[in-house]
Amino acid sequence: MAIHGKTAAEIFDCVRALAQSQQLRSGDSLPPVRDLAVQLGISRNTVAAAYRRLVVAGIATTHGRLGTIIRNQYESSDQEGAQADSPLTDLASGNPNATWLPDIAAALQRKPYTPRLYGEPTVNAGLHRYIQQWMQPDCPAKFDIDLTHGAVDAIERLLNAYLVAGDKVAVENPCFLSSLHSLGAVGLQATGVSVDDEGMLANELEEALRKGARAVLLTPRAHNPTGCSLSKKRAKELSQVLAQYPNVLIIVDDHFALLSTAHYYSVIPETATRWALVRSFSKALGPDIRVAAVASDSATSKELRLRLASGTSWVSHLLQDVVESIVTHPSTTALIEQAKQDYQQRRQTLEQGLQKHGIAFQTNSDGLNLWLPLQGDDQAIALALARRGWLVRQGSSLAVEGEINGLRITISDISPEQCEQLAQDIKRSVG
Ligand SMILES: Cc1ncc(COP(=O)(O)O)c(C=O)c1O
Repeated sequence: MAIHGKTAAEIFDCVRALAQSQQLRSGDSLPPVRDLAVQLGISRNTVAAAYRRLVVAGIATTHGRLGTIIRNQYESSDQEGAQADSPLTDLASGNPNATWLPDIAAALQRKPYTPRLYGEPTVNAGLHRYIQQWMQPDCPAKFDIDLTHGAVDAIERLLNAYLVAGDKVAVENPCFLSSLHSLGAVGLQATGVSVDDEGMLANELEEALRKGARAVLLTPRAHNPTGCSLSKKRAKELSQVLAQYPNVLIIVDDHFALLSTAHYYSVIPETATRWALVRSFSKALGPDIRVAAVASDSATSKELRLRLASGTSWVSHLLQDVVESIVTHPSTTALIEQAKQDYQQRRQTLEQGLQKHGIAFQTNSDGLNLWLPLQGDDQAIALALARRGWLVRQGSSLAVEGEINGLRITISDISPEQCEQLAQDIKRSVG
């Protein structure tokens, strides 16, 4: 297909139309600036300006030497969650175990609903108090509190408020799928930073920031998929790196906070101007709760509120009542403790099974998943496991860049018998 136009606006309109009519498809490369300039008989600056506009509009992305590439905003993509109607044993979902989710009806009985109208304070006073106490020890400075419809919603709104399409965001590699999709949906570019068992690597984060990343999205505990949590030492190193870039937006996705067995170590330096600590209620109270708490500096909070205003501006007080009633009730502490122990027990049983069969896995991990790094092709191994009746998540689908092979196994519902059988089947599939 021919790109035509004499001005940057005309080239922009032409490429946009070609992308919308699918004549240019996701992943297609645009001609090099120099070639198109010669072909159209115009200056390179004009073509470069058109390409910049395409990137800012989220229609294309730049990929270093690969040039400018069309981005499909509407591509369907893999999501977290159970596979409906799968005949396989689903260990790919990333879901919590329903046994450990609190009783919502009982919560509402303890706190009967009173109608709220437009214009009420956006956060329930009681829930605000709870969040204030919860966040206070882990925030680097004075903070404001907001609620969003879950952690992913917070991440997307925060990124959107501070960045423009084409900007780079440093993320863990491999990365939680929904975060990756959130970036892609608004035309942001993920720069992968490797992780080891102490979390994100400080030298790679430094490199990503040096190369222009304007935000970092980091999981301090129970990284998805590897399960690793930040060590005290690593958190300090990361904080030192971030201190050199005070205008970079730091988003800390502490999604497993209520259930984590790891200590929280903060990476946000006191000098950071833009930061947000996000804590979801999804894993402990249930993914359907769709509420996350966000503590952030006041400028970030203001921007987040503006972004919330485009929807309803507040998270339903009915949901807030439920969350408040649950998190402030003494029975919840006991339930969360039981859930923690149960998840740990299931994880240990699977780890022991894997150990017995000589299969390597990520140690000291937390969360609802166990990560098995693999040398070879994880697709072939996932397929071999599917033939034996197991559905697991392929690590390569979570890679931000480069090659990552591994399996992510959700442990929240696995039984001891399944652990033994799965370990045997992995051994056979890998072998
Ligand atoms: C890293 C990470 N962040 C956030 C979430 C949950 O987000 P939400 O609060 O939107 O349910 C998950 C769930 O698996 C996760 O793994």
